Amino acid sequence: MYLHTFSPASLLLAWAICSASVWVLFRIYYTKLQTANRARRTDLMQRLGRSSDSQHLVGFFHPYCNAGGGGERVLWTAIAAIQRTEPNIVSIVYSGDIDATKEEIISKVKARFDIALDPKALDFVFLNSRKIVEDSTWPYFTLLGQSLGSMYLAWEAMSKLIPDLYIDTMGYAFTFHVVNLLAGIPVGAYVHYPTISTNMLNRVKSRERWHTNSDTISSSTFLSQCKLLYYRIFMYYYSLSLRSAAFIMVNSSWTQKHVNAILQHSDFVLDTLHRMIPFKMSSKNKYGSATSAQIVYPPCDTREISQFPLTGRDRVILSLAQFRPEKDHPTQLRAFSRLLQDHPQYIDSDHPVKLVLIGGSRNADDEARVQSLRSLAKDLGLQEYTEFIVNAPYPIMLNWLAKASIGLSTMVDEHFGINVVEFMAAGLIPVAHKSGGPLQDIVVPFHGQPTGYHADSVETFAEALHTALSLSDDEEHVIRQRARTWAVQRFSEEEFEQSWNASQWKSFLPVN
Ligand SMILES: *[C@@H]1O[C@H](CO)[C@@H](O)[C@H](O)[C@H]1NC(C)=O
Ligand SMILES: *[C@@H]1O[C@H](CO)[C@@H](O)[C@H](O)[C@H]1NC(C)=O
Repeated sequence: MYLHTFSPASLLLAWAICSASVWVLFRIYYTKLQTANRARRTDLMQRLGRSSDSQHLVGFFHPYCNAGGGGERVLWTAIAAIQRTEPNIVSIVYSGDIDATKEEIISKVKARFDIALDPKALDFVFLNSRKIVEDSTWPYFTLLGQSLGSMYLAWEAMSKLIPDLYIDTMGYAFTFHVVNLLAGIPVGAYVHYPTISTNMLNRVKSRERWHTNSDTISSSTFLSQCKLLYYRIFMYYYSLSLRSAAFIMVNSSWTQKHVNAILQHSDFVLDTLHRMIPFKMSSKNKYGSATSAQIVYPPCDTREISQFPLTGRDRVILSLAQFRPEKDHPTQLRAFSRLLQDHPQYIDSDHPVKLVLIGGSRNADDEARVQSLRSLAKDLGLQEYTEFIVNAPYPIMLNWLAKASIGLSTMVDEHFGINVVEFMAAGLIPVAHKSGGPLQDIVVPFHGQPTGYHADSVETFAEALHTALSLSDDEEHVIRQRARTWAVQRFSEEEFEQSWNASQWKSFLPVN
């Protein structure tokens, strides 16, 4: 009797009924949501004092829009550009800053970034459940927890207002499925940093192999297998999410390389399993899906520092980096020591060359690092020629940027290197590590001519410093000018707007 109840035919029937009901319930919900949304749009247009026809809504998913960091500068610059050039577009920001008002956010943007926003072409949808994407909510399985949380948050967003185009500017790729499903609108993204990278996956993989080869207890092998599986599943769905976007912009070559790798990622086993899930969220997007990411460099504020004079500079080598291990300050001291050994003339003069290290110290570890750097400088006999400035106030830093000659940066594989951009805009000649952003994006030839120097060891850093210090006045002036022109132009708001335009975002808006 029981066997009969669970026969394949009845299971199939139950499954069919179940899927049909889910589908029907979903269609009812979808239709109600769309109807309610039409009323919400009309309301919004009235509130903003606009006529509701021929207006488009572009929604920016940026739950931390009031944070005042680099990601927020990108968001507000994009919105300001849209306001300037597209009179029929209203920008909507999905924000979790429920304790701030629209007016407060707008005036903070003005104060922090000097970006003026028109309140008539901008509105906020405030989200109450932002805490669900916070780190602290998910002490375990953080990646997964935050991603599921972001899907819930996107549901809240779409149930409050559906725009015509959705752009995620904070890296919540898992929200794309929710938006595709509930809103049926095109999705785009500006990615600062991939949520999980193929590197991470490979690291776990190789650790796993290492465990298998050693005689570590099997339980830890089991754990690392689980972790690998977790990452693998996560990567599969992350890649699926990114592919459901119609266009993807990235902030640097580094991020582009990683995002492109993720877009190409394939996993035959998981793909086969995924196809068997009955109620899966579709990764298909009728607006086409991105196959590669396009670089849109974020704008940097170089207005003030690019006014500093190029001539009359002191013989100061300036380092501008938090006292963190990856910044590799010891190499700076060793290279400087090497320079003085090879070329004692730099200190046997009335104006000895000096190395100034400015940086933030966040905690006791950083403080200890500063102490050990000071003693390294002493051991190398550099005391007289080096100066450490810890947690300098902004005006002091500007003061050094206005008078130093050379900017030194030794970090390996830095994703970007805003300090190097600042060196160049301020008129310093950059000497930066031959890797990452400084190699690929920043200290690159301009009209075929160099804008600075690269090095990758104590010896080559010493040589590059010597080259930069021994330029003739004319050569020096030319290279400072070139570096400044390049940095200011490449990381300008105008350049940003041009590349943002090139992403074709506008072509995804519905035609009226
Ligand atoms: C891109 O975003 C990441 C993460 O916020 C940041 O570390 C990096 O400096 C950014 N790159 C640029 C070019 O601003
Ligand atoms: C971007 O496109 C808009 C028109 O859509 C145009 O007005 C604006 O000048 C463009 N910006 C740049 C920097 O090309």
